[in-house]
Amino acid sequence: MSIHKESAKRVTTHVLAEMKLKGEKISMLTSYDYSMATIVDRAGIDVILVGDSASNVMAGHETTLPITLDQMIYHGASVVKAVQRALVVVDLPFGTYQGNSKEALNSSIRIMKEASADAVKLEGGREVLESVNRILSAGIPVMGHLGLTPQSIHKFGTYAVRAKEDEEAEKLIEDAKMLEEAGCFAIVLEKIPAILATKVAQSVTIPIIGIGAGGGVDGQVLVIHDMLGITQEFSPRFLRRYHNLFDEIKGAVENYISDVKSKDFPNEKEQY
Ligand code: KIV
Repeated sequence: MSIHKESAKRVTTHVLAEMKLKGEKISMLTSYDYSMATIVDRAGIDVILVGDSASNVMAGHETTLPITLDQMIYHGASVVKAVQRALVVVDLPFGTYQGNSKEALNSSIRIMKEASADAVKLEGGREVLESVNRILSAGIPVMGHLGLTPQSIHKFGTYAVRAKEDEEAEKLIEDAKMLEEAGCFAIVLEKIPAILATKVAQSVTIPIIGIGAGGGVDGQVLVIHDMLGITQEFSPRFLRRYHNLFDEIKGAVENYISDVKSKDFPNEKEQY
């Protein structure tokens, strides 16, 4: 007898493909821990990305480069434990797939076995195609990521909008087609002109998930700490904040401190 989670209600890569066919938009958010992933999953999100943005929002690094494979697996496993419905995609961190397709496969296998993820995501097009092919040959679903690819920040030198010039735009469209042909099940497009993102979404049959790529794509992704207003300094034009949790949490903590100092907490009913 096989033991598996209730599969009928779960989002799979096939469900995402059908959603694109039907014109139903795909919702995706990041999560990095059990408690947040529980809330995000129960709200009905389609895809949870355990992004290497954990390097920024969880560990406080300036870039996504320092986070390790072990750390991504830790975050991935914590999220997977919480999830009942969403597809869980875990980022391959910088340095674990770029130079060597065997290493890319081994890194992906570790994510699938140790975090029980549903898929991996990696950044780049033709430069990482050999790695993409090798990971896919092991039956591991791969999500691509083109446009602004934060693991290459030292090459770009800036987080500005990518592919504004024709040459880079053409290369991006070709890369998207290459990733589709290789067998990727979806691609994230980050911070590129909306017109170009729409063109990419119309040029491939796999779902295109945008972040700062306009509304003409098949779905949207945001970093949860940004959309909840936990992070403060990061305010790109594409970010819609749904809450100001920084102020809410700070206010609650200030009230707690004040109650402790004034001996209001705990009161008679709050003790044994
Ligand atoms: O790491 C991440 O959170 C991401 C999203 C911004 C797409 O890659």
